Amino acid sequence: MSNWTHRHVIDLANFSVADYDYVLEVANRFNALPDKGARKIPALQGKLIATLFFEPSTRTRSSFELAAKRLSADVQSFSPNNSSLKKGETPLDTALTYVAMGADVLIVRHSSTNIPEQLANALEHSGKRTAVLNGGDGLHSHPSQGLLDLYTLASYFSPNNPNTYALKDKKIVIVGDIIHSRVARSNLWALTACGANISLCGPPSLLPNAFESFVESPPPGIKNDPVKNRGKISINRCLKDALDGADAVMTLRLQKERMDENLLSNLDTYYHEYGITHESLKWCGKKVPVLHPGPVNRGIEISSRLLEDASICLIEKQVSNGIPIRMALLYLMTAIEN
Ligand code: CP
Repeated sequence: MSNWTHRHVIDLANFSVADYDYVLEVANRFNALPDKGARKIPALQGKLIATLFFEPSTRTRSSFELAAKRLSADVQSFSPNNSSLKKGETPLDTALTYVAMGADVLIVRHSSTNIPEQLANALEHSGKRTAVLNGGDGLHSHPSQGLLDLYTLASYFSPNNPNTYALKDKKIVIVGDIIHSRVARSNLWALTACGANISLCGPPSLLPNAFESFVESPPPGIKNDPVKNRGKISINRCLKDALDGADAVMTLRLQKERMDENLLSNLDTYYHEYGITHESLKWCGKKVPVLHPGPVNRGIEISSRLLEDASICLIEKQVSNGIPIRMALLYLMTAIEN
């Protein structure tokens, strides 16, 4: 695995196009394993993967645990409500407890931005070799979701060879609660790296103008963007205009738990203006796939009928693709020599 340099995966801002292609290639190999018989391979035998989810999750946690089991790793999960967090232990000290038990990879989700990065820095500082994989931190980043969304789109556009080139010059529309979405941020890094142009759509309260220059400001610690030619990001407040000429649509959950009550006073109006339905998709001018990271608020960001239309809606595909993508991440991260 000499081409892979990411001991920790915290953000996609430091991923090169070669990194994305590497993950897609490895994930695609895992995805080609037969459903029966060879489903479980011994690649991570003897490794310990701990899933430290301080914030709720269904998809991410379960698919990381399945991914680790399919690679024959030992898996240790953690329940915050029955843990020593209740006695005042900090998340960092909790994580270090799992390091002391011999964890090779910690998958960390937390509602506070930068907890996974702080943990990775603490481990580097103390010379520990445990890897940290960000399972979603605050509003910041959800790298495995960004990668599985990329894989889902690349597989849609280029089923026989899903790679970054499949996204070049595609118009991807991301609709909804962008400001609260770590998924949107990770997708912006991943999709623009592949040369896709992103049209963001939503009301100003959920989509500030500053997002237009999001990928022009790499986070602290990244001196130079590893991607030379990124696709462009534009903002369109009108769904009809945003969808014109789209190649794919990603709609996002309204994150009510991160909003104050006044931010969205009328959900019916929101659905009328920004809801993705069979009718609104006609504005694309052709048949396009619809993605949603889940969990979904039915009838708010997407219609129930569309959600159940597997000829358009790729949500099930996104969930199943999460397993090979997470297998690829665990496989690559545990193969790093030093
Ligand atoms: N998409 C996603 O992160 O879902 P979960 O919160 O269920 O993990």
